[in-house]
Amino acid sequence: MLSDNIRYDESGDLLFAGVRTKDLADKYGTPLYLMDEDRIRANCRMYLSAMGAAFDGNWEILYACKAACYKALIQTVAEEGLSLDVVSSGEILTAVRAGFPMDRVYFHSNNKTEKDLVFALEQGVGTVVVDQLSELALLSRIAEARSEDQDILLRLTPGIDTHTYEAINTGKVDSKFGFAIETGQAVDAIELALSLPGIRLKGYHCHVGSQVFGEDVFERSAEVMLRFTDEIGQRTGYYPEILDLGGGYGVRYTEDDPEVSIPDKIASLARTVRAVCAELSMDVPRILLEPGRSIVADAGMTLYTVGNVKRIPGYKNYVSVDGGMTDNPRYALYGAKYTVLPAVLSMKSRFDADLVGRCCESGDIIQPNVSLPEEMKPGDLVAVCTTGAYHYSMASNYNRIPRPPVVFLHDGQDRLAVRGETLEDLLQYDL
Ligand SMILES: Cc1ncc(COP(=O)(O)O)c(C=O)c1O
Repeated sequence: MLSDNIRYDESGDLLFAGVRTKDLADKYGTPLYLMDEDRIRANCRMYLSAMGAAFDGNWEILYACKAACYKALIQTVAEEGLSLDVVSSGEILTAVRAGFPMDRVYFHSNNKTEKDLVFALEQGVGTVVVDQLSELALLSRIAEARSEDQDILLRLTPGIDTHTYEAINTGKVDSKFGFAIETGQAVDAIELALSLPGIRLKGYHCHVGSQVFGEDVFERSAEVMLRFTDEIGQRTGYYPEILDLGGGYGVRYTEDDPEVSIPDKIASLARTVRAVCAELSMDVPRILLEPGRSIVADAGMTLYTVGNVKRIPGYKNYVSVDGGMTDNPRYALYGAKYTVLPAVLSMKSRFDADLVGRCCESGDIIQPNVSLPEEMKPGDLVAVCTTGAYHYSMASNYNRIPRPPVVFLHDGQDRLAVRGETLEDLLQYDL
């Protein structure tokens, strides 16, 4: 199986986190997002222990909550002792309402509005990760008016191509994010940050991409960042306390994806960081990582009910389900790959079909060419695996379709974490 929280029992029923998927569908309906809370906690602990072993106490793990953001999840990562990466006022408010310690919150985004920045400071966000020159001046003005000094990191672009999906490849020089080192814009930003009142430059940040499997991508970006740190240090005497190397470790959506040992990756990253710092006679800064996907992706599964099966002889087959690009836009966005499983194991023959949603778009495909039991019929359940990251958070109400609920599974028990939207919810803003 793709992940050890997925299995079929003796009677052929699909279990997720030890719970029968059919029972969950009967209780909550479909489409349904499931989240294995025990797996989320295990993933958090895996990061904490790997960082502890690799970086001698001077490190921090931030959960990048763009991957999935609602109170139950934010409370879970808070309990596990992680810090938090947020990108909007909505994510900040979720953190506040979840009781997250706001001094451990880092606020990103390439276009924070004045309203966002004021809100962030009012809510006590610990660190703002500044992305643009105009933001530096604006933040300085807002912090000064509040007679505060705001901790910041500067987001730099190290010029690394991760060769992941283009839409999530963010570390190249021509990225919309951050200050490019290569063009000299990073130097300008640092000089300005050091000269402005109301802000305290704590260090540098970079994030080169997401769903990254490349062998030495993180090591290369750490090396670029550290050499640049040294160059600035030599020139200005400024050495940052913090180096945030972003998120991005890849996860397995299909059996073809490589198995990544994140502890091994972190150990290798730490070796590079220590070696480069030793060569430059520089203290190792506090190292931050901000994983999103690898904390929650394999904790998720989505259940759907088949609505109809359409066979076009000589052409192709379609299995339509009661969700689609509204709860999972990732195939439409990037051509993302998935593992799809029937909720009841079938030994009978199989046929290939496109698993499609219910939206009025030909592109509303969850996964093309899925091998499913030949006898698949309306009312059957199918499960899409590895949907814990960038699914609920990317869901929409296209075609006025309500978002499904999120159910947490812990120790064989289920609990509603986010209720599903109703049709009335969809109309609540219409005047
Ligand atoms: C700045 C930043 N940090 C962290 C992440 C999390 O990346 P991932 O979910 O791949 O770990 C992202 C995702 O795009 C990001 O943009």
